[in-house]
Amino acid sequence: MNQRSIIDVPDLSPDEINSLMDTAEDIISHPDAYADACHRKKLATLFFEPSTRTRLSFEAAMYELGGNVISVTDALSSSAAKGESVADTVKTVSCYADIIAMRHPKEGAAAVAARNASVPVINAGDGGHCHPTQTLADLLTIRREKGRLNNLTIGLCGDLKFGRTVHSLINAMSRYDGLKFVLVSPEELKLPSYVKNEALKSRNVAYEQTTDLMEVIGSLDILYMTRVQRERFFNEEDYLRLRDSYILTPEKLKHAREDLSVMHPLPRVNEISVAVDEDPRACYFKQVLNGKYMRMALMLMLLGLKRKEDC
Ligand code: NCD
Repeated sequence: MNQRSIIDVPDLSPDEINSLMDTAEDIISHPDAYADACHRKKLATLFFEPSTRTRLSFEAAMYELGGNVISVTDALSSSAAKGESVADTVKTVSCYADIIAMRHPKEGAAAVAARNASVPVINAGDGGHCHPTQTLADLLTIRREKGRLNNLTIGLCGDLKFGRTVHSLINAMSRYDGLKFVLVSPEELKLPSYVKNEALKSRNVAYEQTTDLMEVIGSLDILYMTRVQRERFFNEEDYLRLRDSYILTPEKLKHAREDLSVMHPLPRVNEISVAVDEDPRACYFKQVLNGKYMRMALMLMLLGLKRKEDC
């Protein structure tokens, strides 16, 4: 099939990502110019794993572009529960929708969907693999908070093994100059070597690994906290032992820089205390909003649609 799909961040060039961010900024400033851009277009959201933000963000994005949405919100309520393959599901959904956003528990499911659909497929998270549209939200947030995407020291903390948002973010950010990653995790939840090799070692990107957040917190421009991904553990005991490895509190933030940005893809469980929400350095709810604008920009690009000129 010849339509363009987005499985992970490298499917977009840095220039395209810049232009998506510029479109998102234009949508923020001129929402009326986009209000009918997707008139008569339909988005199908196929979510075979739990989601609040990502699915609703895609759906709100399509509604704000003047389009419509059809949705599978639960694997058990779709024919996946009868044993239908991803390939057959997306061939079917391609008959109803102009674009598909899909989340699936299996790594690689989005790539299978993209090969079989006849409309663009956007990966909204495939198992512990990647999550490119969360990264688009993260990049716009970083650009808005820091004014740049280069020359930054970025701490990633928590479950770096199963956290797909971390994998996509490293893949995206490692294409900019002057970046340093500080990887903070328990031994058992270290960044997988395939991500390290492909994104960091092959591009000679500086990084260090540690288990101790407090040892490095003062050196960071960005601290990206993550949830320990309970659903990807093979045994509950390991999850219980590791889940509270890092809990960010106002006390700990006293040791961080005044211009730190604290990010988190959400949902949060325990890893950021709610008292941190009052700190002006907390950016995680801004990420949520930025995600909607970036998904609007991405769907416009994939559908080949533009803003109204006279707004
Ligand atoms: C993330 C995900 O689904 O990977 N959530 C999201 O889409 N914002 C992070 C998580 O579930 O921990």
